[in-house]
Amino acid sequence: MLEQLEQIKAEAQAALEKVSDLDALEAWRVAHLGRSSPLMNSFKQMGGLSKEERPKVGQRANEVKVALEAELETKRAMLKQAALSASLDEEQLDVTLPGRALVRGRLHPITQTLRRIYAIFAEMGFQVYRSREVESDDYNFTFLNMPPHHPARDMWDTFYTSTEGVILRTHTSPGQIHAMREFHPDPIRVILPGMCYRYEQVTTRSEMQFTQVEGLAVGKHITLSDLKGTLTDFARRLFDDPNVGTRFRASHFPFTEPSAEMDVECFVCGGKGCSVCKQTGWLEILGSGMVHPTVLRYGGYDPEEYSGYAFGMGPERITMLLHRIDDIRYFWRNDLRFLEQF
Ligand code: DAH
Repeated sequence: MLEQLEQIKAEAQAALEKVSDLDALEAWRVAHLGRSSPLMNSFKQMGGLSKEERPKVGQRANEVKVALEAELETKRAMLKQAALSASLDEEQLDVTLPGRALVRGRLHPITQTLRRIYAIFAEMGFQVYRSREVESDDYNFTFLNMPPHHPARDMWDTFYTSTEGVILRTHTSPGQIHAMREFHPDPIRVILPGMCYRYEQVTTRSEMQFTQVEGLAVGKHITLSDLKGTLTDFARRLFDDPNVGTRFRASHFPFTEPSAEMDVECFVCGGKGCSVCKQTGWLEILGSGMVHPTVLRYGGYDPEEYSGYAFGMGPERITMLLHRIDDIRYFWRNDLRFLEQF
């Protein structure tokens, strides 16, 4: 039995010599130290030995086991070291190679326009006021001077929800009421940016989903001149031209009286007339007016004491003008070939 152990040891050592990678080493461990290896079997056979022989054989078998385990660990360490140096040799870094250029992300063109608008109004003392996109019928229409069944409601094709009276806002104007009810009776100067929704045919000029920036100023001495001055200055800053021509055209919105639309001189043709301005020389950029007394009252302000102006513009339209983009659908299509140009 003792001789047999020596033979087991010698065979295991010879086999270990030939092992040259970690997988083979694991196979060797199973074969020579595993549960059904000759060495382990010799432990099982010890029951059949005489009393005198048993301790000697047992001791020797243990010694062989400990020795083989030690050789296993030495070999494992050696193989790992060899694998490491091999991979270091193979994967040498050439620090003189040029790097790979990183693809840089960028802001969406509409986000860029929004930020430009925020910056201009921030300098004029307007705060950004965030309002909800899911609105009640009251806020979207009634409080803006369009009671139920008022024909002016048809100006906006509305997404209704399955909950009675809950809709997606068709414009940012309902935020005016939220702001007034929150700030009353203090004076207000806010812009209200955000997404709006309309159940409309998607065309080159209209999307179902688009952004607006609303503006609202309420105080005790606010006049139409303030509105004109603020918006004229805004247009000059937005188009980066202190001499850009602007004009106000009388218009109608239920929530303002009087109402006006503001045009800027066409910066493509300088006012001479071209395809961008449809030969008029002017580009419409926003709607505006003095806040209607009914709207002030719904907001909690007494129209005898307070007045205000409001305006609303479409950043998609402004971006299209700034970059001469002829199709609004590009903006929300997530086509990188388009987005990467900004
Ligand atoms: N809410 C209007 C729309 O979506 C835009 C607008 C016009 C907003 C005049 C205003 C305003 O605040 O005074 O068509």
